[in-house]
Amino acid sequence: MSGGYHVAVVGATGAVGQEMLQVLQRRRFPVRQLTLLASARSAGKRVQFGETAIDVKELREDSFDGVEIALFSAGGSRAKAFAGHAVAAGAVVIDNSSAFRMDPRVPLVVPEVNAEAMRAHNGIIANPNCSTIAMVVPLFPLHQAFGVKRVQVATYQAASGAGAAAMEELLAGTRARLESRPFQPQIFPYPYAFNLFPHDSPLGEDGYCEEEAKMVREARKIMEDPEIRINATCVRVPVLRAHSEALNIEFSREVTPEEAYQVLREAPGVQIFEERAQNRWATPLDASGVDSVLVGRIRRDRSQANTLDLWLVCDQLLKGAALNAVQIAELL
Ligand SMILES: NC(=O)c1ccc[n+]([C@@H]2O[C@H](COP(=O)([O-])OP(=O)(O)OC[C@H]3O[C@@H](n4cnc5c(N)ncnc54)[C@H](OP(=O)(O)O)[C@@H]3O)[C@@H](O)[C@H]2O)c1
Repeated sequence: MSGGYHVAVVGATGAVGQEMLQVLQRRRFPVRQLTLLASARSAGKRVQFGETAIDVKELREDSFDGVEIALFSAGGSRAKAFAGHAVAAGAVVIDNSSAFRMDPRVPLVVPEVNAEAMRAHNGIIANPNCSTIAMVVPLFPLHQAFGVKRVQVATYQAASGAGAAAMEELLAGTRARLESRPFQPQIFPYPYAFNLFPHDSPLGEDGYCEEEAKMVREARKIMEDPEIRINATCVRVPVLRAHSEALNIEFSREVTPEEAYQVLREAPGVQIFEERAQNRWATPLDASGVDSVLVGRIRRDRSQANTLDLWLVCDQLLKGAALNAVQIAELL
């Protein structure tokens, strides 16, 4: 490792942290030195980065000496407690948690949508919620082209969205079910194998859960349009990796599916993925390990004027988290 930046990955042992290490390597991010941080439980573990095995250290206030870029993916309370120390040590923090996303001083960035918002950062840049990123990557170019009035979105969210332990719980619960053994979930409030449930984030007084509220307010901030109306229903499905979403989009004028396809074919971060004649559309397995948001199945909503339906699938560990964070670091 010579030349480049001193990068810290906070939460290096987690689902997103592990993905970040792979994305940094795959995109040949110029890393001069790498500091890997996690909880005391992981201190001393060795993590491979290319040819090099690196010791994981316990996250502490003095962990950031000389660090220039700190990629945080260790939850909101760790971000609140430690991001300030990283900034004070001279690092730019890119945080994956929800700790700073709605702070007006903190840019909330999806590079394909609002890269220029980064310029105003004061040391911290927030990475949006994964379901929100998946939605805005195709929604924003459609909004620019045709003006979006309202979006009705339903999500089908994978275990990976809740971290490494949640993925393990889905696998272990599935094995137990197949072997007719009892299984007590620890991460989720419901049995996950062969089941699904409304997103388990805290419920607001209005009856929407936190994940649904995030999709509304974060999308408005990223797209810099407080007027856009968004209504979300978020559901966890027993898929290991990659979130799917069904969007119903009302435009301010008539838009044909062909016009929408044309815009999305040119849109950064979007890949049209379908074989219409074969009735074949993107699935989470197709999207796993893929950088782009896979989009297709665009059709007219026959129940309402000026409205299209669209299906998308996104590897939320990549574009929804690690890849988006590294893209931000590249722009720095
Ligand atoms: N999964 C996603 O798709 C996704 C998408 C967008 C944003 N995010 C956000 O990214 C963050 C990490 O998510 P994840 O899915 O990677 O979770 P995860 O797999 O559970 O990993 C959590 C990471 O945080 C570390 N950590 C936990 N407690 C800590 C402490 N007290 N001090 C230092 N490190 C600590 C863990 O270290 P140990 O291994 O030592 O416990 C681990 O490295 C969360 O804020 C999440 O909201 C996740």
